[in-house]
Amino acid sequence: MNTLDEIVARALAEFVAIGEPAKLEEAKAQYLGKAGLLTEQLKNLGKLPPEEKKTAGAAINAAKNQVEEALNARREALKRAALEAQLSAEALDVTLPGRGRSRGGLHPVTRSLDRIEQLFRTIGFEVADGPEIEGDWHNFTALNTPEKHPARSMHDTFYIQAEDGSVQEDVLLRTHTSPVQVRYMQAHVEKYKHEATMPEIRIIAPGRVYRVDSDATHSPMFHQVEGLWIGEKVSFADLRGVLADFLRCFFESDDLNLRFRPSFFPFTEPSAEIDMAFMSGPNKGRWLEIGGCGMVHPNVLRHGGIDPEKYIGFAFGMGPDRLTMLRYGIDDLRLFFDGDLRFLSQFK
Ligand code: DAH
Repeated sequence: MNTLDEIVARALAEFVAIGEPAKLEEAKAQYLGKAGLLTEQLKNLGKLPPEEKKTAGAAINAAKNQVEEALNARREALKRAALEAQLSAEALDVTLPGRGRSRGGLHPVTRSLDRIEQLFRTIGFEVADGPEIEGDWHNFTALNTPEKHPARSMHDTFYIQAEDGSVQEDVLLRTHTSPVQVRYMQAHVEKYKHEATMPEIRIIAPGRVYRVDSDATHSPMFHQVEGLWIGEKVSFADLRGVLADFLRCFFESDDLNLRFRPSFFPFTEPSAEIDMAFMSGPNKGRWLEIGGCGMVHPNVLRHGGIDPEKYIGFAFGMGPDRLTMLRYGIDDLRLFFDGDLRFLSQFK
């Protein structure tokens, strides 16, 4: 039979040689399990004469403690080794160069809008806005658009559908930024109703507008910048001056011409189409339509709560998408809305 010392020495040697926790538990069973060597020793105690029992029992217990201690020490050591292995496997090399994240940038149209706002602010224009979901009254009626005007047709205007599928003819996606004119006039009049004089209105209103239209030069959503200057002595000459100055600053060129082509809009009288042409560069001499304008119709002033006998002013509506295409030499409007990074990242 094994002596206790031999058993202990064997257990200790065996534990130290084991590298896996599961194997260690198997080895433990050989010594401390139900049929383990030390357990056997304890069972045999009963066969010993009473006078030997005490010392033999103490010796077995001491041996058992030694084996248990060694077992625990080995368990700890294996746990630590496992942790260390895991840590080094997952180690981060903080000295590696970064992977680099590409930086976002502003959309070219957003850049233009920012620029337009900045330029108009320098000549005393405020920036106003209005809702994109408009009412028929603000979008058409207040702007002197007759009941049967083709712009009101469903071919041109997105109307809002009620839950039961019926079209709500008085709720639509604004087809232009012009409704902001009337909204702003009303708010302005309200604000100064207790004052002896009303300050001039000088605003631009940039924003998204919607029309049922889609090809290389039209998109169902596009941008407009509305302009409005109302005062006691505002003339068409002022309109021309403001637009000419703005365009020269926007394109950073004195080398451009402006042309006002007589036209019709229900909300202005007289009305004109704004055309411009560069006098040099790749587009030299080509006239391009960039917006509409005119002197605000008396009916529009009235709808805004302003007396047309006392006040007069001009309005214009420009297409910043078109201005952006000209500024950067882009020939397809759809590029703005495709979200293609190869295109967009050129503007970072
Ligand atoms: N609202 C017009 C459009 O969308 C553009 C326009 C023309 C705006 C003349 C104006 C204006 O303020 O005076 O076609």
